Amino acid sequence: MEWDSNSEEGSVGEDEEGFLLSDGGPLPFSAGSLLETASCGFVVSDALEPDFPIIYVNTGFELVTGYRAEEILGRNCRFLQCRGPFAKRRHQLVDSTVVSEIRRCLELGVEFQGDLLNFRKDGSPLMNRLRLTPIYGDDKTITHVIGIQFFTEANLDLGPLPGSVTKESNRSSDRFSSDLMSSRFIPYSFRIGGS
Ligand SMILES: Cc1cc2nc3c(=O)[nH]c(=O)nc-3n(C[C@H](O)[C@H](O)[C@H](O)COP(=O)(O)O)c2cc1C
Repeated sequence: MEWDSNSEEGSVGEDEEGFLLSDGGPLPFSAGSLLETASCGFVVSDALEPDFPIIYVNTGFELVTGYRAEEILGRNCRFLQCRGPFAKRRHQLVDSTVVSEIRRCLELGVEFQGDLLNFRKDGSPLMNRLRLTPIYGDDKTITHVIGIQFFTEANLDLGPLPGSVTKESNRSSDRFSSDLMSSRFIPYSFRIGGS
């Protein structure tokens, strides 16, 4: 199943009509734009497919982690536990007890909340306060899992990622890279749109 934000079903316009303030008035912004500019990562995984592939990721997640949506759609989110895109396995400093607890919660279909070490695409460490919420369908099966990530800087000096900081990458004029650099953030807040 594909999460299609442009489709009629579940479209932003349709959803917006469902959101009302306590005084009965509609929200003064679209739910879609709220997600895109939210000051946290927001990921949706398909729970009906093996290994919880990502079907939606918001811009905040892309900006902070440095991974673009097209690189990560269809993959499991555990790649953030590896130091950079070429690492073959989870970094040794990632707490395996927390990872086991995530696995246990996903197997039981219950909510998870905890902190674990993650890495940006450039290999720099991030602390992730992660919340996972299973979404149940009509027949009581879990159809999706929503992940919300509150990223903060991790005060760890791991040194440069071996072989990654090249003159070539420094010369890159890629706009996304510069957006990423400008999104180095203060705890619990992203700077989106260059402000
Ligand atoms: C929707 C969703 C979002 C997730 N987000 C993250 C994340 O931001 N960082 C992370 O380290 N793991 C995240 N996970 C957890 C991993 O994808 C994986 O479930 C976990 O590492 C346990 O499985 P494993 O032991 O097979 O790796 C997420 C899982 C789901 C379903």
